[in-house]
Parts: sequence; C-alpha cells; structure tokens
Amino acid sequence: MGKMMKIGNLVGLVGWRGMVGSVLIDRMQTEGDFDLIEPVFFSTSNAGGQAPALAKNETILKDAFDIEALKKCDIIISAQGGDYTTEVFPKLRAAGWGGHWIDAASTLRMTDDAVIILDPVNLNVIKNALAKGGNNWIGGNCTVSCMLMGVGALYKAGLVEWMTSMTYQAASGGGAQHMRELLTQFGTLNAEVKNLLDDPKSAILEIDRKVLGKQQALTPAETANFGVPLGGSLIPWIDKDLGLGKQSDEAGWGMSREEWKGGAETNKILGQGAAFGTAETPVDGFCVRVGTMRCHSQALTFKLKKDVPSADIEAMIAADNEWVKVVPNTREATVQHLTPVAVTGTLGIPVGRIRKLAMGPQYVGAFTIGDQLLWGAAEPLRRMLRILLAA
Ligand code: HSE
Repeated sequence: MGKMMKIGNLVGLVGWRGMVGSVLIDRMQTEGDFDLIEPVFFSTSNAGGQAPALAKNETILKDAFDIEALKKCDIIISAQGGDYTTEVFPKLRAAGWGGHWIDAASTLRMTDDAVIILDPVNLNVIKNALAKGGNNWIGGNCTVSCMLMGVGALYKAGLVEWMTSMTYQAASGGGAQHMRELLTQFGTLNAEVKNLLDDPKSAILEIDRKVLGKQQALTPAETANFGVPLGGSLIPWIDKDLGLGKQSDEAGWGMSREEWKGGAETNKILGQGAAFGTAETPVDGFCVRVGTMRCHSQALTFKLKKDVPSADIEAMIAADNEWVKVVPNTREATVQHLTPVAVTGTLGIPVGRIRKLAMGPQYVGAFTIGDQLLWGAAEPLRRMLRILLAA
C-alpha cells in the first residue's frame, strides 16, 4: 500500500443552519476545528448571500446544488438531510469527485463502500477503510451510536450473545418542528386545566378527564408532525414499517425501520456480519417515542456468552472511552445522573441500572442515555473530519 497523500483542508459545509448543523458548527468552534480548515459554506436556498462570520476567504454562500463548486472541496460535510444526499451525492461522484463525503443522513449508511463512523468504537474499521481508499463516512443512527458509546466495551470483548433494547426516544429525533409541537401540546394541555390546577381542592380525576378530552381533540394542525398526540402520551413506533410483506412468524415481521437499524447498524459499526465474513450479533427490540426533548434513553438486556461478575462489567464499561460514566445502581445516583435532564447538552454517556436479571447469571440489564444531537449526530462527523485532517 502506498503512502496516502495528505488530505487537503478545503471543507464544504452543507446544512449548517439546521438543528444538527447548528450543533455541529457549535462543537467545531468549541474544539477549534475552524483553525485547521478553509471552510466553504453552501446553501440550498440562499446562494450568493453572506456566509457566516466563521468564513475566511469564501465569504459568499455557494449553491449547494452546484456540482462544480462542490467538486473543488477536499472534504464535504452534510447535515442537510437524506433528500439532498440522494440528489447530489451520485452526481458528484459521477462527475469524478474523489474527495471525502461526511454525512449525517442515513441514505448511504448501509452501502458497501460507506463506513458508519463512531471512532471511539470503531476506529479500526475507519482506519482500514481509509487505508483502502474509502471516502464515504456516514454518521450512525442516533440511538445506535449512543448505545455503543455506552456499552460498546461488552461487544468489543466479544461477550454479547444477543442484546435487546427498549428505547425512549426524544422528540428531536424527528426534527426541530417535532420539538416545537411537543412543547406546544404540553402548553395546550396545561391551559386546558390551568384553573383547576390552581385550585388545590379541585378533583384530580376531573383534571385527568379534561386532559384526555383535549388530547383526543387535538386538531390535525396540532399533531401535524407526530400524527398523534405525544404530550402526555407515547408512540411505540418510529419511522417506516419494514415488516410489511413478511410472514407473521418471521423475525422482521411488523418491524419498524428504527428497530431494524438497531441490528443492522450495530453490526456494521462493529465491523461484523455477512459483509465482513463474520457472524452477526442479534440485536432487536422496540423503539418508542416519548415526550423528552433531545436525549435518547434505552433499557438494554444482554445475554452474555458467559457469567461475568457485575463489578467486572462495570469496570469494562467505565474504561472503554472518556465519555462513558457508570452510574452506581442506587436510587439516588440514578435519579440524579441517569435522566435526559442530567445529560442534555453534554457529551457524557451515563450507563446505569447495571444488574444481573432474574433469568440467570448470563442475563444483564443496563440503562443508558445520550444526547442524540451530540454523540447521536454531530460529534462523530467533526471527529471524522479530524481523523481525515490528521491522516
Ligand atoms: N431516527 C431517529 C429518531 C433520529 O427518530 O429518533 C436520528 O437517527
């Protein structure tokens, strides 16, 4: 293998104004990434406008559909979304662009020539692909990335026979409008019973009945994003139905796309499964939308290949990376440190509730939380940029 040429630092940024993009830019600023690159800001709607103050030489926004302009970049980072990737990426490669594409969208994730990037977990997979000329680097599903940041150690140690996850996914996973809708619904429900709440002598069952009446009467406009009420409720289905057409006794029947990603992406990130000529670890469970803002939580059940003492499991998890934190399995530590409110806006990945389950010594439960806009979306992208710049 010849020595790789150093990768240039002209970096195109697409979708930097959206929710994931804004978190990404913020993190890049905090970590000094802009000191190392010459940024080119692209826009799908405002080409010719003024680029943000972070711009250096290129102070005018370029057209995000201008293949010639994109082709000049050594690296492109897109947080624009799947439709943009579907439209632009094939044209760019067809036009002969050989640069590095870093993308938050799921469009390219499972293609053979793409690596799902989560370097604290799979730096070896990334480096192998880079050495072989790989240039498509795709951020993983937020739930999967946050889960592996927490309990990746058990997979790396080859201990997991199977895992099932029950998720509690935040409104932000749907997008910015979904977060607004959730909060608006909370406000609407509160307003419906405000007078009764203010009266300490009012009957709770009357409040409950009025809230339910309002939830059931929310208009299509009030539920436009989630389709049904989320405030004061939950939705045990995320993304498309992938199970259609399968027989009802087949695994995969009645499976949501989010649930499918759990198994498919976990294995791909770890560099295992058919594409790598190895066996997959079964990962399956239920994905549920709940009324939290931007942290995805997950209750995990493992069947380990052997009986490992809980203290050893905790030690392995704690030593895996600098962001994971084992929360002692006590009531007080759990309610203080293992909640979306405690984790939001931080890169910390707490893992708690680690305990042996009643099914037997090889069965272990755990609960983990991650900010889905940080480790779940923006952070792996900017870290990939650093890996490329250092290559
Ligand atoms: N699909 C995830 C969710 C978001 O809906 O929560 C990002 O991967």
